[in-house]
Amino acid sequence: MSLAIVIMAAGKGTRLKSQRPKVLHTVGGKPLLAHVIAAASRIVAPADIFVVVGHQAERVQAAVAETGVRFVLQAEQLGTGHAVQCAQEAIAGYDDVLVLSGDVPLIQTETLERMWDFHREEGAAMTILTAVPEDPYGYGRVIRTGNDGAEVQAIVEQKSLARGQETVGEINSGIYAFPTATLLEHLDQLTAGNSAGEYYLTDMAGILVAAGERVVALKAAEAVEVLGANTIAELVALDAALRSKTAQKLMALGVTIFSPETCVIDADVEVEADTVIEPYVQLLGRTRIGADCLIRSSTVIENSTIADGVLIRQSCVITDSSIGARAKIGPFAHLRPGSEIGEEAHIGNFVETKKARLGKGAKANHLTYLGDAVIGAGTNIGAGVITCNYDGVNKHTTVIGDGVFVGSDSTLVAPIAIGDGAYIGAGSCITREVPADALAVGRSRQVTKEGWAAGKRSRQKKEC
Ligand code: UD1
Ligand code: CA
Repeated sequence: MSLAIVIMAAGKGTRLKSQRPKVLHTVGGKPLLAHVIAAASRIVAPADIFVVVGHQAERVQAAVAETGVRFVLQAEQLGTGHAVQCAQEAIAGYDDVLVLSGDVPLIQTETLERMWDFHREEGAAMTILTAVPEDPYGYGRVIRTGNDGAEVQAIVEQKSLARGQETVGEINSGIYAFPTATLLEHLDQLTAGNSAGEYYLTDMAGILVAAGERVVALKAAEAVEVLGANTIAELVALDAALRSKTAQKLMALGVTIFSPETCVIDADVEVEADTVIEPYVQLLGRTRIGADCLIRSSTVIENSTIADGVLIRQSCVITDSSIGARAKIGPFAHLRPGSEIGEEAHIGNFVETKKARLGKGAKANHLTYLGDAVIGAGTNIGAGVITCNYDGVNKHTTVIGDGVFVGSDSTLVAPIAIGDGAYIGAGSCITREVPADALAVGRSRQVTKEGWAAGKRSRQKKEC
């Protein structure tokens, strides 16, 4: 049996009061729509997923283009029923269709599969995924035929609830399954005769029941999975729920997270067992952390790969970088994009790196800037060393070999190369190549005048 998935994502999201389309707002560091596409992609191939776009369509398409899904345009947003009408041609060749909402991001693949099985077992014309949340206000309510039967009479939107129906606690998730032929046969019966003047997909329930078809509903195990994000407050609540789940998942894998409620861990972050994460740490984007690491408080790591046994001390900022096994970083280190820190290397306090590759065991322990630099294994970069990589117009590279000693407070004016085993005297300004095993000292000679200070003091006394 062939299955198409339609994801409704054309709406503006008026209640968010935002310039950004609703489905591109994020929870767990990822757009709402990307979450829904990920859940759908585990059920069908991307080519069988049709995302209905409309408001800022190009922006929405661009944001998820790499997933390989297909797009259907709903030029004017006349309601959820109209969104599916726009996808009619796209889904016509499939036996069945699953309709998802682009603003219901926490939906799990397992729940969709359970719903799909239920739909097939029931042989229903429409199956509605529902939930009973703490507060059903704002959602469409599902009116069942009997108290405990699966069958549904209708879905009634909040604005249209009749007296007595407000107490119905079972909400419509905005997720449905239909046999395509049955859906397409009745889809043009939707009208916009409600207070919003929209074509409501929810009206399909009543239309199908009136046509003698079977409409059923299945409750999701956890209400949070099907909650929508219509306001900033709802988005923040979903974000917190998702982050808490992510933290629980990592802890179940053997990761220790102290005060997980203070940490911000994005949905796709991976961490291996025996790693310890202290309070107020942020792990963002596609960050991967190996086993046995210690990530101390207030560190922010984004899109970076950390190998096993790494120590990252307090308050480091690490972006688009990689760190080798057993390296030690921080406190207060700033690893900007393109930093590749080798195994057992040390990056100490107030060190900034950018597009800098450090070999195994290299050390830059204090107050240093290393930009556009390649630094060999075992090399020691003294306190206050600066790679002068920018001439005001272009960036230039510094290449330092293995086992080099760069004395404190030296400036290395790029482009420059320093050979293996060389020594740079402290306080040098190095502008020309230093061959291997050489000593380079680039500073003015010291002048010492014996007794000068004592003489100055006695002269000052006489003046008084
Ligand atoms: C909808 C349901 C409601 C349900 C709730 C669950 C209807 C009429 N109501 O209400 O019963 O409880 O979802 O979250 O369907 N969209 C389009 N084109 C449009 C309008 C909307 O693609 O013309 C998309 C939106 O981008 C959104 C989804 O459809 O992703 C749902 O629309 P939204 O306006 O949020 O519906 P709700 O009022 O939440
Ligand atoms: Ca919604």
